[in-house]
Amino acid sequence: MGARWRRDMIRFDRRYFGKLAAMVAAGSALPGTLGVAEMAAQTVAEGAVSDRSFPKGFLWGSATAAYQVEGAVKEDGRGVSIWDTFSHTPGKTFEGETGDVADDSYHLYPQDIALMKSLGLKACRFSIAWPRIFPEGRGKANQKGIDHYRKFCEALLEAGVTPYCTLYHWDLPQVLEDKGGWQSKATAQAFGDYAGYTASKLGDVIKQWMTMNEMSSFIEIGYGAGVHAPGLKLGKQKLAQARHWAVYGHGLAVQAIRAHGGSGARVGSAENAEATIPAFNAPEHIEAAKKAFVLMNAPYLTVMHTGKYPDGYLKMLGADAPVFTAEEMKVIGSPTDFQGINIYTAIPVRAAANEKGFEVMPAPKSYPHMASPWLSIGPEALYWVPKLAAETLGIKEMYITENGCSSDDVVAEDGQVYDTDRVMYLTAYLTALQRTVSEGVPVKGYFLWSLLDNFEWADGYSKRFGITYVDFKTQKRTPKLSSKFYKNLIERNGL
Ligand code: FCB
Repeated sequence: MGARWRRDMIRFDRRYFGKLAAMVAAGSALPGTLGVAEMAAQTVAEGAVSDRSFPKGFLWGSATAAYQVEGAVKEDGRGVSIWDTFSHTPGKTFEGETGDVADDSYHLYPQDIALMKSLGLKACRFSIAWPRIFPEGRGKANQKGIDHYRKFCEALLEAGVTPYCTLYHWDLPQVLEDKGGWQSKATAQAFGDYAGYTASKLGDVIKQWMTMNEMSSFIEIGYGAGVHAPGLKLGKQKLAQARHWAVYGHGLAVQAIRAHGGSGARVGSAENAEATIPAFNAPEHIEAAKKAFVLMNAPYLTVMHTGKYPDGYLKMLGADAPVFTAEEMKVIGSPTDFQGINIYTAIPVRAAANEKGFEVMPAPKSYPHMASPWLSIGPEALYWVPKLAAETLGIKEMYITENGCSSDDVVAEDGQVYDTDRVMYLTAYLTALQRTVSEGVPVKGYFLWSLLDNFEWADGYSKRFGITYVDFKTQKRTPKLSSKFYKNLIERNGL
């Protein structure tokens, strides 16, 4: 479950990366997919697009998360989160690296906002650290935490950048984990309270809220695979129950933000869909990709948008299915205003004569990937996933809340960073996105991950995802080639 969970399962051979670069540059197809040139030829032939622009007002942004950029973990009354504990536990992260300092954005955020402004960004997706607002998870709030995010949002607004706030990007207060974390209904309730309180205090400067980031990641990798905080490897039933409390917490937060966020508050979440795509563009495989999308996203996206666990999911779990009440299901299905979708990889599926009607195909060893071994390259996901989400779950407004890639960036002798592979990756993905938008799929904006190189969870600082290079010794920020590419794209509102 979860694209990131496969990070540790999938090991590709880097030698093939050069081959991919050549193929994409030549516009030819990746194995089992349409190449950029073919995709373009096909859409033009269908008369779907006449140019490469995005609709007027399309929202261009960038994304970050508190623990990955802020640092200042002991400042202004911040409590301890599970990521502090985890990253300080020997052997859990790359070379024992932690988010203690990260990009020091807690202090340097004016610089970061100046960067956003220089790129022409219209929106900034960031997250609030729950332990800065409630150091003990619940109970007494910390005014200094609220003050910090107010100052940050005011500076964004001043720069003409709209704040898009995520309330939970994996930094659970440690005290709540000590009482069971996401295995406990009480954590979901505490999350609802934190969401309502924060919305009541910051609703004048934040109108766009996302409850959680990638439930499928923090549950499956953190409580299933044990590779992220809190590092647990739960059995099937306990894991299914933790998933249930996560989506229940999301539902409670949706309701709390509606109740306390003031006028104009809009709410959604940012989920990394299981990005099923058809093996190739044939009706039976498209049908298979649809079935796979609903079933493989059953415990998160599907249940949030239908208020129901699909029968196939419950059947698959059998005695390990989560225990739930009708009332909880109603909360989980609370209507949202938009859905954020994080897309990195693609899962090609084909039609199969089995009960599910689809089959995930095994990945060949030669399948190309970026600097992170888990980050296989699948631009078509940006075409198919929003389309399938709209068609199968009836989602009416979507944002790509994360997309981007890691690259082995180095500063060249002339002081520049030539991340041509990232530019290639982004060009291919954004071409697919433009195609989906031009066909009328309701994607309203795109947030590039990430503005800055940052603390990449268990990979520490070994994987760089930024369009801005960060020298972690000096905190010097250097825009990479990809940031110039993004600025140019935003200026033209098209490719
Ligand atoms: C996503 C996370 C984000 C970042 C990117 C690379 O799964 O939401 O924090 O680590 O991957």
